[in-house]
Amino acid sequence: MSEQSHGAESGKASTVEDNNSLTVTDNRTGKTYNIEIKDDTVRAMDFRQIKVNDDDFGLMTYDPGYTNTASCRSAITYIDGEKGILQHRGIPIEELCEKSSYLEVAYLLNFGHLPNEKELGEWVYQITHHTYVHENIKSFMQGFRHDAHPMGMLLASVGALSTFYPEAKDIDDEWQRWVSTIRLIAKMPTLAAFAYRHSLGLPYVYPDNDLSYPGNYLSMLFKMAEPKYEPDPRLEKALDTLFILHADHEQNCSAAAVRVVGSSRVDPYSAIAAGVAGLYGPLHGGANVDVLRMLQKIGKVENIPDFLEQVKQRKELLYGFGHRVYKNYDPRARIIRSHVDEVLEATGKQSPWLDIAIELEKQALDDEYFTSRKLYPNVDFYSGIIYEALGIPTDAFTVMFAIPRTSGWIAQWNEMLHDPELKIARPRQIYTGERDKEYTPMSER
Ligand code: SDX
Repeated sequence: MSEQSHGAESGKASTVEDNNSLTVTDNRTGKTYNIEIKDDTVRAMDFRQIKVNDDDFGLMTYDPGYTNTASCRSAITYIDGEKGILQHRGIPIEELCEKSSYLEVAYLLNFGHLPNEKELGEWVYQITHHTYVHENIKSFMQGFRHDAHPMGMLLASVGALSTFYPEAKDIDDEWQRWVSTIRLIAKMPTLAAFAYRHSLGLPYVYPDNDLSYPGNYLSMLFKMAEPKYEPDPRLEKALDTLFILHADHEQNCSAAAVRVVGSSRVDPYSAIAAGVAGLYGPLHGGANVDVLRMLQKIGKVENIPDFLEQVKQRKELLYGFGHRVYKNYDPRARIIRSHVDEVLEATGKQSPWLDIAIELEKQALDDEYFTSRKLYPNVDFYSGIIYEALGIPTDAFTVMFAIPRTSGWIAQWNEMLHDPELKIARPRQIYTGERDKEYTPMSER
């Protein structure tokens, strides 16, 4: 007699159609349970009914790093890791890079459809006219050391924005969510550029509303005494494409951090600051910095075999390779690689690292150690070569990732707030510590 699986939250039997279910037998008791399968997943809570004694807690699922756990339902980004497919609202990334713009993709991510002329015009106007930040931001930016890490400055500044817009706490107000979405996308380049100018001891450059989103960012970074900064259209286009490629990537570490922190109903600036913190890590967005450092450490093509040997002995990590989802070539890496030559030509620079990167990729992909582990170049492998050619300091490469990822993070945050199943994120644990110990007085320690 199989036990009907009970929706543990509601206590009522879930409607399990036999052909869409797991039948599990608990060999400790001989009891059998039908667990519903929906969307190729089973609900972890359906396993809580499986107990030996009635007062047991019931079975939990254990998944460190959430390698096989869906945390939400989302319609924003689709990835097929085996086939190397990436689509935003169903549109392939290759098409978006060829035909769209970053701000149009940011709209697509947040509103679920491509904007018409009027919608795009209003969206670009609003973002363009929200690029300024409160003058007090400059004061605390001045408080950072000259050598403060730009991601640390960005993290702090984004969090601080929540203090300038206290009304953003009203996350149930549609207008507040909309204006926070606009402000975050609009102000991220300004904060990033201010951090860069602070590190060089240069005066801040205010936004120029005549320029495009990427063009304005280049102006705020590099404008000096000239009356008006005129971005090179080739660099502007390359940067816009890079922004598209970094806009969203479903439930990556930083998007998951935004959702976890956002599930406490905190304001969006604080939730996005959590995303900046997650992206900062060298295993995530920080990898584009470590790729360049890795290429510099290798130094010349002849050193590649020795380096790869070090990787196999776990003494080095092949930064820019591998991915939790892609077990094929990251489609973004392929597109970025195709832009490297044109950026180098536009900047008139030769990258000493490009030849090493190309040969490193070739030798790794010829090596069974990497192919057996399905390790291929990811989005970070070639991006740093472009950023260096653009004159971005190495430490600020991850800032180049955070700017466009903001549109993805805020889209994930907005989608989460509309999820009828939204609950505050609060994982369980397997307790491995001691129990019921007596307090040891100091004299006996
Ligand atoms: C991003 O999630 C996203 O979508 C992220 C991102 C986004 O757009 O948001 O795509 C952006 O973060 C790209 C990833 C950037 N990080 C790096 O380039 C750092 C180097 N990569 C690795 O740290 C690693 O590949 C991860 C973190 C990206 C993925 O790690 P997983 O999924 O936990 O894989 P794993 O550690 O279980 O690796 C499987 C095997 C292991 O070998 P075994 O222990 O089984 O023998 O592959 C090995 C790992 O040791 N391995 C590597 C490796 N990556 C994995 N070995 C050498 N070099 C690597 N880069």
